[in-house]
Amino acid sequence: MSTFKDIYQQSLADPDSFWGSAADELHWYKKWDKVVDNAAKPAPRWFIGGELNTCYNAVDRHVESGRADQTAIIYDSPITDQQRKISYSELQEQVAGFAGVLASHGAKKGDRVILYMPMIPEAAIAMLACARIGAIHSVVFGGFAAHELATRIDDAKPDIIVTASCGIEPGRVVEYKPLLDDAIDQASHKVSRVIIKARPQAEANMIDGRDFDWDAAMADSEPADCVSVSATDPLYILYTSGTTGQPKGVMRDNGGHAVAMHWTMKNIYNIDAGDVYWAASDVGWVVGHSYIVYGPLLKGCTTIMYEGKPVGTPDPGAFWRVINEHGVRVLFTAPTAFRAIKKEDPDGEYLAKYDLSCMESLFLAGERCDPDTLFWARDKLQKPVVDHWWQTETGWAIAANPLGIEAMEVKPGSPTVAMPGYDVQVLSEEGEQMADGEMGNIVIKLPMPPSCLPSLWGNDQRFIDAYLSKYDGYYLTGDAGYKDADGYLWIMSRTDDVINVAGHRLSTGQMEEVLSGHADVAECAVIGVADDLKGQMPLGLIVLKAGVDRDEADIVKELVKRVRDQIGPVAAFKMAKVVKRLPKTRSGKILRGTMVSIADGKEWKMPATIDDPVILDEITEALQALGYAK
Ligand code: COA
Ligand code: AMP
Repeated sequence: MSTFKDIYQQSLADPDSFWGSAADELHWYKKWDKVVDNAAKPAPRWFIGGELNTCYNAVDRHVESGRADQTAIIYDSPITDQQRKISYSELQEQVAGFAGVLASHGAKKGDRVILYMPMIPEAAIAMLACARIGAIHSVVFGGFAAHELATRIDDAKPDIIVTASCGIEPGRVVEYKPLLDDAIDQASHKVSRVIIKARPQAEANMIDGRDFDWDAAMADSEPADCVSVSATDPLYILYTSGTTGQPKGVMRDNGGHAVAMHWTMKNIYNIDAGDVYWAASDVGWVVGHSYIVYGPLLKGCTTIMYEGKPVGTPDPGAFWRVINEHGVRVLFTAPTAFRAIKKEDPDGEYLAKYDLSCMESLFLAGERCDPDTLFWARDKLQKPVVDHWWQTETGWAIAANPLGIEAMEVKPGSPTVAMPGYDVQVLSEEGEQMADGEMGNIVIKLPMPPSCLPSLWGNDQRFIDAYLSKYDGYYLTGDAGYKDADGYLWIMSRTDDVINVAGHRLSTGQMEEVLSGHADVAECAVIGVADDLKGQMPLGLIVLKAGVDRDEADIVKELVKRVRDQIGPVAAFKMAKVVKRLPKTRSGKILRGTMVSIADGKEWKMPATIDDPVILDEITEALQALGYAK
């Protein structure tokens, strides 16, 4: 048997045969002419000339090969006290039916469809239905506000939006329809059709001629068959936070994505067809795309759509109940979920109530996994716990411990080693290779493996500027860290304005744009400060315009509301403090990094280029008033 090292070397030395044989395991209408085209611009492309259908591979293929009666999706919703099991044949029927609905409203190959959906099976059905007819879906997370949705409508320009009457958060029903109507009003691109899944918890106010009821449309639907699409045709666009208020539309090819997803299920997660796999995330995030929907279904697994939280629905035993009840073999979630459980059940008393012998391993991603969380999870579960590092841009793990190939030694704090196809290097600002153990910019040498983004939707130049222009021939991950002498990667921080709050990727730059729009704000800085539960929390430091003498508490309240209304509750922006000035370099750059170190109580050095060092005393006081900088 080959060791991981051999397999990794082979993937870099001969990508054609490595990914070509991975692709052979899927169904193609037409085989590719070329595995990878390194000359493609703006970035290499995979499976040129090949034709396939992602939905066929994820659904119909399994129905035809004997899995018709196997459960494809388990919907487990403690928040509505409901469960539903959908077999592969029922999934095929539902997906073909909804593909027919979309087609009857004019959707065809290449058209964009926005999905603004809660964690209900219809979200996955709508995604697969788009894939079936070659339409490009763009799922928008339910925790985003109308303005964020409007930005995505204007960028993706969909004719159709699919939504539900509401999402449900603990203690409140989030009505989607008013948010959606507001977003459609705000957007300059006009949406002609909205299809709404009615849920009993909220009634949607229907607009005649534009809004259609999901169930009624399904009852009249003429099922649509899978169409053949090019491997390089986009399957989806997923918007993610960047430096500014304009999110980046990460594109995903049909071919490379299907091949990579399928390959990872066995090789990284050690999962076979028929196994139960659970990614406790949301379809609005990349983890939800890759490992609630596409990965497990492409492999012929049973996937779980969980509408609930790790705690409070109803208690910190929620995850253990799901694992036990459905026979989950692998759980994938964010470290923050485990911190939430640990906080409420430090001794694992709830965990002890359940037999978890079905479970083989736990995978964590979305943010750096602090060693304490890893130790606690490993100690309580007595199972391997794997930290793995990836991004919306890649769609799957750049670094992981590949349990299906070879379980490697675990070094807590490191997501282990680069996965096949990823030639990960660490470079200095000047582009020199850093020595083992030395921090630098983490980059991936082109070509990146299948599934990684070929560009940003409709904006090659932004893709080049953001990812490819800093180092010729390399993709810039935006993460800083180092590689140790054993080749293990250590991902330490972001090099841009991205912060990670409860495993959710957010932009402090975007929050600053929103705060700056307030009439009383002259300038501001938003920093990500360390948080025991959520990993990081945003904190705003605000300088008011001259002459403003309103009560600080009122202004802060307005600023908090402004971020919640314009970005959404998921931004979790709750802390702000008015200061007289912001610390800057002599050239006027705000010293955010220094403020983060002060807030987190870390050692810091006075920046040599600081304009006026006294300002840092004022900042320290402001941070202390909010409970930081201890
Ligand atoms: N629709 C509407 N609102 C949403 C939402 C959604 N889909 N998801 C979250 N929100 C809201 C929450 O209700 C909360 O609102 P509040 O300020 O009124 O309380 C706010 O957004 C912040 O949410 P979150 O950061 O998730 O905090 P929380 O306190 O609700 O829950 C955890 C904390 C740790 C339990 C939760 O973040 C969690 O389960 N994380 C798991 C990790 C995960 O899913 N990561 C995704 C990538 S793998
Ligand atoms: P997202 O695109 O939302 O998946 O966020 C990607 C970013 O989250 C990465 O660029 C990292 O900054 C961070 N991240 C994700 N997983 C990890 C991990 N295992 N270790 C450290 N950082 C991580």
